[in-house]
Amino acid sequence: MPLRFPSLDRYPDFLDLIADFDGGSLDGSGFWGDHRPVLTPEGYRAWVATLLAEGNTEIELPAGRVHCSYFWITDADDAWVGFLALRHTLNDFLFEQGGHIGYSVRPSRRREGHAHSALREALTRAADLGLDRALITCDDDNVASARTIESCGGVWEDTRSDKRRYWAATTPSDR
Ligand SMILES: CC(C)(COP(=O)(O)OP(=O)(O)OC[C@H]1O[C@@H](n2cnc3c(N)ncnc32)[C@H](O)[C@@H]1OP(=O)(O)O)[C@@H](O)C(=O)NCCC(=O)NCCS
Repeated sequence: MPLRFPSLDRYPDFLDLIADFDGGSLDGSGFWGDHRPVLTPEGYRAWVATLLAEGNTEIELPAGRVHCSYFWITDADDAWVGFLALRHTLNDFLFEQGGHIGYSVRPSRRREGHAHSALREALTRAADLGLDRALITCDDDNVASARTIESCGGVWEDTRSDKRRYWAATTPSDR
């Protein structure tokens, strides 16, 4: 299974991973808007703490934020290859644009099936959260992401403001 919970023991890997992205999109990492990675050990620890807090439903979040479970995508040797975020619910923005699930794979490890495997596991974890289906979106011109979603059973509903919106049935772990 490719998804791991964020942990404090991967700081050197974090530096390597962020260097690989080279300023590119970190979808699903929890770095959003103007937030960029702080590459110090303290910055790393603070980021991990924030990710874990956002997934903890006992912690109240600021208005407008929804709880979100963050995962790190790993390969068969447990090397860190990407990020995935699974939002527990949708607010207005997420319903229109962001969807339940976001992800990215480090450039040097793309086209090896990691996004496909990660999204498949995320759909099982979404079922564990009680979701029957998940909304997954991508930019209209993001062929790689559209193919990833479709390969995991996503069915295109419509395109709003250049975002393709797909719904995928979640997959309970006992199926
Ligand atoms: C989108 C992304 C996550 C795909 O990751 P990946 O690990 O390379 O994807 P996979 O190897 O699992 O491939 C999944 C599907 O996409 C296809 N695919 C992957 N990259 C592709 C590309 N550049 N062009 C065309 N198809 C592509 C694969 O062939 C596969 O389709 P198939 O099952 O029909 O053969 C990755 O390109 C990425 O991180 N992009 C930047 C961030 C991003 O766009 N995130 C998504 C935001 S919605």
